[in-house]
Amino acid sequence: MKDRLAWGMDWETWIPQAWAAREMAHAPYSDFQVGAVLVSSDGKIFTGCNVENISYGLTMCAERVAIGSAIAAGAKEIIAAVVVADTREPISPCGACRQVLAEFGDPRVLLVCRESRAEFQLSELLPRASTGILEKPPAAE
Ligand code: THU
Repeated sequence: MKDRLAWGMDWETWIPQAWAAREMAHAPYSDFQVGAVLVSSDGKIFTGCNVENISYGLTMCAERVAIGSAIAAGAKEIIAAVVVADTREPISPCGACRQVLAEFGDPRVLLVCRESRAEFQLSELLPRASTGILEKPPAAE
């Protein structure tokens, strides 16, 4: 794995990519479009948008769509996430997305709306994500 410090936090590149991903949202039921960008520890970018369904409970959030894409492409660790929506205040990822993201690291998370931003560590948004649940198996050599 490359030294993560080599990558920096290039929010100004990733934010427009998240807005572009949002354009792909399939949100005919809520009419609420969300875009996400994830950055892996080797500097790769993965995008997602929300994908709603006529059976509402099957809706997938933008964050989890991006996580699936990242992991399916071989990403092992997520170091940064951007989530955008056209809201007055920065959107906040749902509990399920926080938990699923926590499986793959403790990224910086930038939440963006039209006029402001809020930056967090995922572990601030979801403390004790895995404490006391299961031991993670040691990483493969
Ligand atoms: N949604 C996301 O995609 N990400 C979030 O962080 C919050 C909500 C989606 C789910 C649903 O399609 C719509 O926004 C309204 O909740």
